[in-house]
Amino acid sequence: MSEKKILTATEQPDTGSALKKSLEMTSADVVFEVRESEIRGRGGAGFPTGIKWNLAGAASGSNKMVICNADEGEPGTFKDRYLIENYALKLLEGMTIAGYAIGSSHGIIYLRAEYPYLIPIIEKAREDLIRENLLGENILGKDFNFDIEIRPGAGAYVCGEETSLIESLEGKRGVPRNKPPYPVNSGYLFRPTVVNNVETFAAVPHIILNGAEWFQDLGIGDCTGTKLFSISGDIENPGVYELPMGSTIGELLEAAGAKDVQAVQVGGASGATITADELERSLSFDDLPPGGSVIVFNSSRDLMDVLENFLEFFVHESCGQCTTCREGNVRLLDAVHLIRNGEISSMEELEPFFQLAEVMKIGSKCGLGQTSPNCFIDIVTRFIDLPDGKGGA
Ligand SMILES: Cc1cc2nc3c(=O)[nH]c(=O)nc-3n(C[C@H](O)[C@H](O)[C@H](O)COP(=O)(O)O)c2cc1C
Ligand code: SF4
Repeated sequence: MSEKKILTATEQPDTGSALKKSLEMTSADVVFEVRESEIRGRGGAGFPTGIKWNLAGAASGSNKMVICNADEGEPGTFKDRYLIENYALKLLEGMTIAGYAIGSSHGIIYLRAEYPYLIPIIEKAREDLIRENLLGENILGKDFNFDIEIRPGAGAYVCGEETSLIESLEGKRGVPRNKPPYPVNSGYLFRPTVVNNVETFAAVPHIILNGAEWFQDLGIGDCTGTKLFSISGDIENPGVYELPMGSTIGELLEAAGAKDVQAVQVGGASGATITADELERSLSFDDLPPGGSVIVFNSSRDLMDVLENFLEFFVHESCGQCTTCREGNVRLLDAVHLIRNGEISSMEELEPFFQLAEVMKIGSKCGLGQTSPNCFIDIVTRFIDLPDGKGGA
């Protein structure tokens, strides 16, 4: 059994060593190793990365693409920025390994518009790798070419959704596509495309060097490895923390110095809002899906302010394709105003809004509209005291 070392965020492996090891394996073996590690995408949805790479590798079509999703638009999330600032080399190496694994020679980093200061950092890492023959043509003397370009986003949250991101990269308005076809079969310019989050790619060199079993041992069940969390709000030490998958939210809060906790939002504005009685719940895809953002609210906060703020965000960021999302978020925001003005005073009067929230979840095309009602349901049912005495914590 491997030693339980946590390396994913806190170490830069010897640059090029994982790529060198990968190039001594067949591309199928690289995919197999990633698949065996059972790593699930770190961008939020948690899709198994090895399966994605396998599908893209097997897809028919030339000019396959590797795209790094560095859009990081979820409120409260800054872990990808941290990784790029400190570990750009291993991000680019992870993308290059993906290129070898699926048979691609071209990578793109779709970088959040608000992160222009990261461009020189990525450019420098790219130049260093080219100088070391770890990127570019005939990498390490093998018949394998791969290069990476940076493309800045345009500041829209929905462009973090992978098909919307692809539309944006193609120079079109950034709105989600219908799926299928999935990007692994028909993505950027209709080519087979792998889209992965920054943290997912950055974990790959560690998996290749230490092996799938090592990665599995770090986590719990089918939630393997460690995870980065951006924690902010009412805490003493906001920042980026790395914990094994399956850790409790209480462990993370203790590390970050949270006191007088009223509520914790896990997974961003569209994630779950839990009470201080639920700190034993686990950060895993089976319980609290660990998107990356954790925001702590102490007892001085009015959670209706928080809810209003998040719903205004969703109203603003909805791309407008689906009526359920475009109109639904406006209606949920109306409900917040009605509660605040005392025009809704019972859970019974809120029932149509809860029904609307369910329709939004099933009737919306992408994750934005499918998950934006979460904050409304959680905050209204757990934290708000209505005059009729029902609802609220
Ligand atoms: C509205 C919306 C915004 C998203 N924003 C991001 C983002 O900023 N970064 C990211 O990696 N994934 C984001 N995703 C998830 C992507 O669609 C996709 O699942 C992910 O990039 C795949 O990479 P992974 O498998 O490594 O997680 C978003 C999804 C939705 C619906
Ligand atoms: S759910 Fe919202 S953001 Fe997503 S496609 Fe529909 S309207 Fe656009």
